[in-house]
Amino acid sequence: MQPIEIKKDIFWVGIVDFDHRDFHGYSRCPDGTTCNAYLIRDKKNVLVDTVQPGWANAMLCRIGNVIDPEKIDYIICNHMELDHQGVLEEIIGRVKPEKIFVSQMGLKSMAGYYAGKNWPVQAVKSGDSLDIGSRRIIFQETRMLHWPDSMVSYIPEDKLLISNDIFGQNIASSMRFTDEYDDQWEFEHRIKEYFYNIVLPYSAIALKALPVVESLDIDMIAPDHGLIHRGHKACKFIIDMYRKMAEQKPQKRALIFYDSMWKSTEKMAYSVCRGLEENGVPCRIMSVKSNHHSAVMTELADCGAVLAGSPTHNNGIMPLVAAQLCYMAGLKPQNRVGGAFGSCGWSGESPKILQDRLAEMNMEMPAAPVKCLWAPTHEVYKACRGLGEAVAIALKKKCGE
Ligand code: FEO
Repeated sequence: MQPIEIKKDIFWVGIVDFDHRDFHGYSRCPDGTTCNAYLIRDKKNVLVDTVQPGWANAMLCRIGNVIDPEKIDYIICNHMELDHQGVLEEIIGRVKPEKIFVSQMGLKSMAGYYAGKNWPVQAVKSGDSLDIGSRRIIFQETRMLHWPDSMVSYIPEDKLLISNDIFGQNIASSMRFTDEYDDQWEFEHRIKEYFYNIVLPYSAIALKALPVVESLDIDMIAPDHGLIHRGHKACKFIIDMYRKMAEQKPQKRALIFYDSMWKSTEKMAYSVCRGLEENGVPCRIMSVKSNHHSAVMTELADCGAVLAGSPTHNNGIMPLVAAQLCYMAGLKPQNRVGGAFGSCGWSGESPKILQDRLAEMNMEMPAAPVKCLWAPTHEVYKACRGLGEAVAIALKKKCGE
């Protein structure tokens, strides 16, 4: 793949990994990913970010189609996570840059990942700028979006914001720009997937950062993953979408995730779903055996209610449900209505455990958990539909209906 000139003398020199599936060891990227890096050709040539481990040569070949990599003067590391700096040692060895710029906090992560290297590293802070000839690069730290070391680079002369992880999506494609991509549902789904699995705990910080982005004169946002947002309309679209996701206003849709041993809990899930639907709340059921925990989390982006189901297993809950709850709690979803249910043969602790775990995430729990002994009876199905109804009523009230 050739470099792509995204602005005059600014080139995309990243990589597209169509077969990547395991994103950072905890999230799935079903359609691969991209690591974007950008080369700015000016009086001083600058490389902004690098790529994930194993892809140094691919990136260097792409750079080589623009300039000799040894002519790069500066490297900017907006964020030290290894999908962006995993080939830094190889790149520095080849480029031998005059200076490497990181954020104040980036000094720590660089020292941690690349201990003992005698590299010409310089820390920058928000508002610092770098004059590279016909343009300036202005740095803005974006701490906890999503690491303490994260920052973005703004080039006012080009109306370009290189935004690192913010506004990214895991999309592998020959297309580089949002306006070239013809699957809007897929595009928005990948934005939700990225936000809900990575950025969500920092929603409050994102809401404070968005007005800063809006105050910039930009017509292009170039993230380090996925498609580049080209044009005012595309920039506004992604900023508005981020605001909506970060605000977490209740949405009239429910998610049920569950695991089952002998299908009693599964039957309960479908009955709870019926109770929701009968009361005007659309519902998505996801088995945690059939769906990765990051896919379940992505679904939550459109759901104001979440209900969990599990049989009792070893006096507790099923392991995949426990994993899902642990993952969800870490991502700190806000402003949800919850519900819990589960079957058992003997002791029957699971519904109460699920109820407590969801309540610990500050979810409003409008009904007691529903327990089923052995196989669902007419009374159990009635109770499940009642749970769905109670959650639907609470959610609709939260939505202002
Ligand atoms: Fe794309 Fe936080 O790394």
